[in-house]
Amino acid sequence: MICLKETITVARPIAECFDYIADFRNAPEWDSTAFKATKLTDGPVAVGTRFSVRCRLPLGSVELLYTVIAHEAPTRIVLRAESWLFEATDTIELQTTPDGTQIVYQADFNYRQPIAAVEGALQSGMERMGTASVQGLKEALENAFEAPEVSSGTALADRLVWPGLAHFTRLGYRRGRRRWNPDSTTITGQRMVITGASSGLGYEAARALAERGADLVLVMRNEERAQTVVRELQAESGNEQIRYEIADLALMAQVDDLAQRLLREDRPIDVLINNAGALYDEWQQTDEGLEQTFALLLLSPWRLTRALHPLLCRANNGRVINVVSGGMYTQKLNVDRLQASPDNFDGATAYARCKRALMVVTEEWAASWREDGISVNAMHPGWADTPGVEKSLPGFHRLMGPVLRSPYEGADTIIWLAAAAEAGDVSGELFLDREPRTTHLLSRTEESLEERQRLMVFLNSFEHTHSVAA
Ligand SMILES: NC(=O)c1ccc[n+]([C@@H]2O[C@H](COP(=O)([O-])OP(=O)(O)OC[C@H]3O[C@@H](n4cnc5c(N)ncnc54)[C@H](OP(=O)(O)O)[C@@H]3O)[C@@H](O)[C@H]2O)c1
Repeated sequence: MICLKETITVARPIAECFDYIADFRNAPEWDSTAFKATKLTDGPVAVGTRFSVRCRLPLGSVELLYTVIAHEAPTRIVLRAESWLFEATDTIELQTTPDGTQIVYQADFNYRQPIAAVEGALQSGMERMGTASVQGLKEALENAFEAPEVSSGTALADRLVWPGLAHFTRLGYRRGRRRWNPDSTTITGQRMVITGASSGLGYEAARALAERGADLVLVMRNEERAQTVVRELQAESGNEQIRYEIADLALMAQVDDLAQRLLREDRPIDVLINNAGALYDEWQQTDEGLEQTFALLLLSPWRLTRALHPLLCRANNGRVINVVSGGMYTQKLNVDRLQASPDNFDGATAYARCKRALMVVTEEWAASWREDGISVNAMHPGWADTPGVEKSLPGFHRLMGPVLRSPYEGADTIIWLAAAAEAGDVSGELFLDREPRTTHLLSRTEESLEERQRLMVFLNSFEHTHSVAA
């Protein structure tokens, strides 16, 4: 048997350390050999919860199946690991000290034959690995990371345009994740409002934030689907603090009603995620007389966010996350064309113009709400395989299928912006794969200061009306 034992102390409350360690989905963030982990059992982590953790070997990889066999919050957790290579028992004991929390991590390995015969030769390599992993855990729990800056490689890729576009695929996600820091921020009980949570990116963001204990308000427009989503997420995560609100966000009267309901609850909002969106292939006006792309993609988040501003102000570092699109790179801000006309309607252009405008709004709010302690950022997901993309861009979906990101990979930066401590230090940026990106790939799309001001004046003209285009 090989026995590894390491002790660390971290300046963090014991309960937070326990929750992070006990959830072995976090293992790839701190264990240098682990690269993929999933929770195989629904509900909160407890005795009997199973995880699959895939670890690198000198040649290939091995899947470890972990089962929690003791869960004595917040002082002790024991997990048994099984694989074709070895069995292991990880015993993690925590205690409060004057400096924070002391963690004693012991791992006992029993190799299977024929490796067991040469176990002694593995001892020193295993010890190095154990030390590195537990130091990785210490760094993850200390969670003292700087807000990311754009790397020189990324800046160059964007300047060359095509390499920058290649980052929209799943390869971009894989490239990005090699540089990410762990995120052990505790978000239990934080109130987060997510629009468009019924499918795609919104659903994946809701799912991940539910697992981390956030208090979620999911905005959807179909009651039956909303009930199913809430039921599913509660069962998977064991988090009961998930509920839905119904609103068709293309209708400003419903946006206003939604905002009023949330204002009446009078609870600070920590995070507002403006994610709902659609790319329409036909020109259509809403019952309120607005072109539907403009209504859903721009006026709706503008109106909802402004209405909820008092609740965002009351949070400790309120955050707004606007989901835009790489499609905006093709368009220059043009205030006169935000409401597309029915003549020669092109849904992709109308969509890209509104996303461009939402990016500018993001920057303007970031500047004017800095004093309120609110950070406002935009993200774009790259190209992700969601029901929205499949329905609105079937040809693109077929052609790009093999390189599209999964919905989770597309949603990752939304989740990071909502949760990570260091993400709250940044405002007014556009992110892809947790890295700030340029807002213009082409100099011809750069707008003037005057056009930016016109945009804000134009949107302000909708403040007291939702049926008449200004
Ligand atoms: N997937 C990508 O590659 C990609 C790329 C760039 C940007 N985006 C952006 O990412 C966001 C999420 O898109 P997705 O790809 O996840 O698409 P999706 O699977 O179609 O999800 C869109 C969500 O928006 C909701 N929604 C649409 N119209 C609505 C309305 N009138 N009122 C309320 N909710 C409405 C949908 O609800 P229903 O289920 O009721 O329709 C759904 O929950 C969008 O803003 C999209 O523009 C996605």
